[in-house]
Amino acid sequence: MNRRDFVKNSAITAAGIRFLPSEKLFKDKSRVRLAFMGTGLRGQSHLENAIRRSDLEIIAICDVDDHMLQMASDLFKKAGKEVPPIFTGDPHAYRRILELKNIDGVLIASPWEWHGPMVLDSLQAGIKYVATEVILGITLEDHWNVVREAEKQKAHVMMLENVCYRRDVAAVLNMVRHGVFGELLHLQAGYQHDLRDVKFNNGKDGGPGVEFGDMGFSEAKWRTNHSVHRNGDLYPTHGVGPVAQMLDINHGNRFLSLSSFATKTRGLHKFIVDHGGENHPNARVGFKLGDIVTTQLHCANGETVLLQHDTNNPRPYSLGFRVQGTKGIWMDVNKSIYVEGQSAKEDDWEEAKAWLDKYDHPLWQRWSKETEGAGHGGMDFFVLHAFVESVKKNLPTPMDVYDAATWSAITPLSEASVELGSQTVEFPDFTSGQWMYRKNNFAINDEY
Ligand SMILES: NC(=O)c1ccc[n+]([C@@H]2O[C@H](COP(=O)([O-])OP(=O)(O)OC[C@H]3O[C@@H](n4cnc5c(N)ncnc54)[C@H](O)[C@@H]3O)[C@@H](O)[C@H]2O)c1
Repeated sequence: MNRRDFVKNSAITAAGIRFLPSEKLFKDKSRVRLAFMGTGLRGQSHLENAIRRSDLEIIAICDVDDHMLQMASDLFKKAGKEVPPIFTGDPHAYRRILELKNIDGVLIASPWEWHGPMVLDSLQAGIKYVATEVILGITLEDHWNVVREAEKQKAHVMMLENVCYRRDVAAVLNMVRHGVFGELLHLQAGYQHDLRDVKFNNGKDGGPGVEFGDMGFSEAKWRTNHSVHRNGDLYPTHGVGPVAQMLDINHGNRFLSLSSFATKTRGLHKFIVDHGGENHPNARVGFKLGDIVTTQLHCANGETVLLQHDTNNPRPYSLGFRVQGTKGIWMDVNKSIYVEGQSAKEDDWEEAKAWLDKYDHPLWQRWSKETEGAGHGGMDFFVLHAFVESVKKNLPTPMDVYDAATWSAITPLSEASVELGSQTVEFPDFTSGQWMYRKNNFAINDEY
């Protein structure tokens, strides 16, 4: 079954797909007109991939930072293309983009606190396809507002969660769907990435330092402030996105409850003292974010999930995936797998490579050439590709507004749990009961 038949069938047979195909369903577009909001480092990476596509026209770019706009403009010039109209001058300049005619979609790569307002304004302006970088919003209310508005406008909101397309992760999803691990029981993941050099730097060029806020560059300008004021899993989606796809969350399964535990807060202050001295003004900043935040989730179908957020201390990068079921287990940190009755040695790890190759996802088999040069080992190609193809075909995006809200709402929920002394909090059902009927159309074939 191809994607169109799958979606058509699901839409007709399952009341669960809430965005019924519009009358334009079968009118394919060959070219998509997209506007970019936020052209910092991530926006530029998406721009590089977008500029390469012949089916994509970038009709506007927007940012509040001249340096970032210059870097973005240079990408067009380097590719021998005209720089599109630039919208800038004030934090709400992006709203003027929404008045443009013939705009098919927007791609948002601004700081976290701007995603909710930009998505909401875009939906209210009648934009039917909105792509946003992770995460969707700050408060739980932000998430509900976006879900309700997308439903009202019959519009599609896709969070650009690229790790769902990571090659080993996609192969493991394929294995899960082929029953290699039996019935799933427990999954682990996290954002375990030493970000101290991202959170602190020296101004325009982003060299090492201990500055943040107005004196920082790129994410140090805004991301670090979240560590000053918030305590919870601030960046859950790279871990939970792939895990949620494997567990069919919002598609026959859902998260029921969550509890989070935060360690003490040491790493960021220590970094400032070590690199700027104890008399540096930033050494007086009180950070709120616990260095390691551990979150447990319970699912309607009986599985558990453990997520970790760990960005403020020395450690090698790892998203820490573990997928465990009644027949076996895969872990990415030791790149190993064990499948009962099939692994070479009983009760012993074997290298996962042969399994990952055997179950290489059809998407990677088809598009691996196109992924070359795209960021993060090629997985960045797929998020943009999936969004653009959905617009062209006027079909739902493979990751939708319910996925975006569910994965990203872990942040405010974990903050609430930590605040309540790690009490278990109820997980909202953004689908309003439709999770029981909705079919998962993520990565179901080799199209997008
Ligand atoms: N998926 C991934 O692998 C990945 C990787 C890096 C970053 N990200 C995400 O991408 C987003 C952007 O991160 P980044 O690293 O590019 O940060 P960045 O600071 O380099 O870029 C953000 C840009 O948004 C601009 N901006 C701020 N307010 C604005 C406004 N009101 N209107 C228009 N532009 C505005 C800033 O000037 C800046 O240029 C974040 O959500 C981040 O978490 C995702």
